[in-house]
Amino acid sequence: MLEQLKGLRAQALEELNKVGNPRELELWRVRYLGKKSNLTQILRSLAALPLEERREVGAQANEIKKALESSLEEKGRLLQESILTSPRESQRVDITLPGRALPTGRLHPTTQILKEICDIFKNMGFQVIEGPDVEWDYYNFEALNIPQHHPARDMFATFWIDTGMGEKARLLRTHSSPMQIRLMEKERPPIRAIVPGRVYRYEATDATHESMFYQVEGLAVDKGITLADLKGTLFDFCRCLFGEERRVRFRCDYFPFVEPGVEVAISCLACNGTGCRLCGHSGWIEILGAGMVHPDVLTRVDINPKLYSGFAFGMGVERIAMLRYGIDDIRLFYSNDLRFLRQF
Ligand code: PHE
Repeated sequence: MLEQLKGLRAQALEELNKVGNPRELELWRVRYLGKKSNLTQILRSLAALPLEERREVGAQANEIKKALESSLEEKGRLLQESILTSPRESQRVDITLPGRALPTGRLHPTTQILKEICDIFKNMGFQVIEGPDVEWDYYNFEALNIPQHHPARDMFATFWIDTGMGEKARLLRTHSSPMQIRLMEKERPPIRAIVPGRVYRYEATDATHESMFYQVEGLAVDKGITLADLKGTLFDFCRCLFGEERRVRFRCDYFPFVEPGVEVAISCLACNGTGCRLCGHSGWIEILGAGMVHPDVLTRVDINPKLYSGFAFGMGVERIAMLRYGIDDIRLFYSNDLRFLRQF
């Protein structure tokens, strides 16, 4: 029986060594220390042994029991520790893996240029104001010296809004100039504001025409404002946006709501004025319309043209973005092609 006990101890300890998790440990405990284990059987059968033998075997068996119990406890503690310090395979973080790049959004090229334009004028002290896309005929035409049947209406192919009453009174604004009127109706001089926003033209689209695009309108009204102020403001603006070396040209143009009216061009960005395809071999690229606010317009909003004067200008934003980024087709802006948009 003593032999049997010795073998039992060796076997138990050897197996305990192989135990790798708490579940296996519990099985081991049942097998070697449980009620049905050999050791328990032996301890139970002690009473039947002769005294001498009982003493010896009893001492041995009890010692083995204690040894196994403390080994069990020790193993339990080791297992617990390893669970806490070594996370499971599935939870382990491999810090050598390359990172996964998150796709970043970007601002639309129109938005980027719009922001740049607004920032330049904000720095000059202009406030930024927005107005309605759906306008009255009065603001879009009438108050800007373009009455019914005036030939200048042909400059603007108009989307009319069906009011159900057969009259043409509401429209999608064809330019941002109606905000000149709304501003002057509401505020008294001094006024210095720019108006970014969408405008609409009922036109077939091609590489240089869209039925919806953005304009930025500018208006300054005060005592003693002259054409020189307009020139200074727009020269500065063009050089901020297109570079210090840009030359700026003013030429006569006609808009019913300004007098005199001017067209502003910059020296061609591609050929620097020597003439190329981009500028139609003229060396110049038109970028905006402007002029001194017409006295009749001032009178209509109750501002005395004998005391006050002002200048106004309007520019197409996509056209400027096309020049800046070298884009040759305006239809790319709103066709939502990500291959195009991701370049900005
Ligand atoms: N509103 C004009 C256009 O869309 C531009 C303009 C604005 C001209 C202000 C003069 C003064 O063509």
